[in-house]
Amino acid sequence: MLHRTAPTGKLLRQEDRNGVKGLILAGGTGSRLRPLTYTGAKQLIPVANRPILFYAVEALRDAGITDIGIVVGETGREVEEALGDGSGFGCEFTFIPQFAPLGLADAVKTAARFLGETPFCMFLGDNLLRGGLRSLVDRFRSGDFAASILLTEVPNPEQFGVAVVDGERVLNLVEKPSVPPSNLALVGAYCFSAAIHPAIARLTPSRRGEYEITDAIQNLIDQGLPVDAARVSGWWKDTGRPEDVLDANRLILEDLKGRLDGAVEEESVVTGRVEVRAGAVIRKSVIRGPVTIGEDAWIEESYVGPYTAIGPRVKILRTEIENSVVLADSRISDVPGRIDASLIGRAVTVQGQSARPRALRLVLGDQSRADLIL
Ligand code: G1P
Repeated sequence: MLHRTAPTGKLLRQEDRNGVKGLILAGGTGSRLRPLTYTGAKQLIPVANRPILFYAVEALRDAGITDIGIVVGETGREVEEALGDGSGFGCEFTFIPQFAPLGLADAVKTAARFLGETPFCMFLGDNLLRGGLRSLVDRFRSGDFAASILLTEVPNPEQFGVAVVDGERVLNLVEKPSVPPSNLALVGAYCFSAAIHPAIARLTPSRRGEYEITDAIQNLIDQGLPVDAARVSGWWKDTGRPEDVLDANRLILEDLKGRLDGAVEEESVVTGRVEVRAGAVIRKSVIRGPVTIGEDAWIEESYVGPYTAIGPRVKILRTEIENSVVLADSRISDVPGRIDASLIGRAVTVQGQSARPRALRLVLGDQSRADLIL
C-alpha cells in the first residue's frame, strides 16, 4: 500500500515505477492567441502542419507512457475529434472534462479518478520540448521522489513558476514572483507520486484565482518530501503567444525531412528541405526550405521562403511569404511586398488589388492584429 504522505522511503512501489500514467492538460482559453482561439483550441494550432498537441502525445509515448488522460475544457469535442481514441498514436486516451479553468492543480484534482494512486507524468498540451520527456520520466522512475520537475534558464522568470535548487534537489518554488529568486523556470512537464493529491487538497487559490501546481509542489517540499529537478536538454517552447507559435514552427522545421508527394511543375525551383504533401501543386514558384506545404495546397507564381508552414488547401497566388504559418483553407493573392513573421488563421482571405483609390480595406476579427510596415 502506498502511503500518500510518507515522509521518507518508498514513495513509488516497484510496479508503479513501470506503470506511470500520462496526463496532458488541453483545456485553457488561449486568450493570448485570439482571434485564432475563438474558433479553435490553442493546443490544435498547427506547428509545421501538425497540431501542437500531437507532439505532446508523442513525447509521452516515446517516454514509454501510453495510458494517457487528457483534461479538456470548452474545446473538448474538437480536441477529442482531432486525437481520436489514441490507437493512431499507439496509446489509450481517457478524456476528462474540466468544467472551469481553475488551474493546473485543479486539473489534476479533476483527473483524480483516472490517476488513482498511480504515479504520473503531466505535460502541458501547448508546450513543446525538443529533448522529449524520456530522461525526466526515467529519472523519476529510478529514484524515489515525490516529484520530479524540469527546469530551464529564462530571461523573464517573473512570467513562470521559478525554482531555487541545490544541485538536483528543489529547495523552494514560487509562481510568477515579481522579484524572482532565480532565473530557473518550471517548464510544463512534471512527474508526480500520489503524494501530490493530498498536497493539492490543501491548496487555496492564488492571486490569479487558480489552484497552482507550483504551490502544491512547494507543499511537498514543506513536508520534507524529496523533489528532484532535471534541466531541459534542447529547447523548450510554451506556445502561448503568436510569436511563440512562429518560433515553435521555426524550431520544428529545423528538423524537417524533405519529402515530395505533391506535384512540382516545370518552371518551379525547390531548394532545401521541403515537404510537399499529396495533392499539393507548385506552379511557376520558388520554394526555399525548410518549408512544409499541406495537402491539396496550391502555390502559383509565388515565393515561399524559409520557416513557412502552408496548411492544407491553402492557395498562395502571386505572393511572397516567409517565416510564417498559414492555417487550412486560406487564400492569399497579389500581396505587394513580402509577408513575413505572420500567423494567418483558417479560411482567411488576404488579397492585393490594383484598383484606385489606393487604400487598406480590412475586415479583421475581434482581437486581430495587423502590422502595416510600409
Ligand atoms: C504554467 C505554470 C508555470 C509554468 C508554466 C510553463 O503557467 O503555472 O509555473 O512555468 O506553465 O509554461 P501558465 O501557462 O498557467 O501561466
